[in-house]
Amino acid sequence: MQPAGTLRIDELSSEELAVYQTLNPARLPEHVAIIMDGNGRWAGKRALERFLGHQQGAKSVQLITETASRIGLPWLTLYAFSLENRLRRPKTEINFLMRLLKSYLESNVERMMDNNVRLRYIGRLTDLPGEVQDRMRWASETTAKNTGTTLTLALNYGARSEIVDAFRAIAKEIQSGQINPDHLSEEDIPDHLYTAQMPDPDLLIRTSGEMRVSNFLLWQIAYTEIYITDLLWPDFKGIHLLEAIADYQRRERRYGGLGEGDRRTDETIEPANAATV
Ligand code: FPP
Repeated sequence: MQPAGTLRIDELSSEELAVYQTLNPARLPEHVAIIMDGNGRWAGKRALERFLGHQQGAKSVQLITETASRIGLPWLTLYAFSLENRLRRPKTEINFLMRLLKSYLESNVERMMDNNVRLRYIGRLTDLPGEVQDRMRWASETTAKNTGTTLTLALNYGARSEIVDAFRAIAKEIQSGQINPDHLSEEDIPDHLYTAQMPDPDLLIRTSGEMRVSNFLLWQIAYTEIYITDLLWPDFKGIHLLEAIADYQRRERRYGGLGEGDRRTDETIEPANAATV
């Protein structure tokens, strides 16, 4: 489902338009999530400092968001900064990423307004520096009424800690008698995740060729299509997002069922042969 009146196909570049025209607009993913990887390698290949790779990566964030908003993608979620990044990377790099986030917000909120983008966050946000949290609050409040793409930045995010936080919330509701543990079902869990109210991703993209999900949205990607590209994040542009969507549209989603070509009635399978089918 696309947000009404937000398609701005005429703003795509001619290369993007050529790929967009191969897509079925009725079958766009509702939610695309991206693991942005390879900033450091992008810089290393050019004998530049790692932080310049992150700086260039921040430009890709804005470009991808704008292409997403032009094609009316309702949900875009970007893994910007993991809990593990914060714990395991040098303090200088973490401090740089925090300053970069702050300046990214300060410089891009106006463009988000122009593109009707609503900004949100997921993660353990209260562990971030106070002045970064202030800027984050300002940016999300400023864009809160926009009705186009919702850009969700995962910051100080880890899927296992998200699940722990959900367990804690559920345990409290059990304690207070709001939930009967015998009636707890799969449908109750998403309401307690940071992504409550968001659809699960249809498509997960990872750049830089790594075949890992790196503790990202583990509950939510149970049936998500995964697309890995060797491109490093700073090289990933709008056209590559459209190519990933084209690849997604060539796939058949089965959710544990049978594919179109595999459907046959039970009567066509003889019980004696069933075990070998
Ligand atoms: C992975 O590259 C990227 C990150 C850990 C940070 C992602 C940050 C950005 C894209 C820029 C800032 C984002 C915003 C929203 C302003 P890496 O450093 O792990 O690269 P490597 O694997 O090649 O070393």
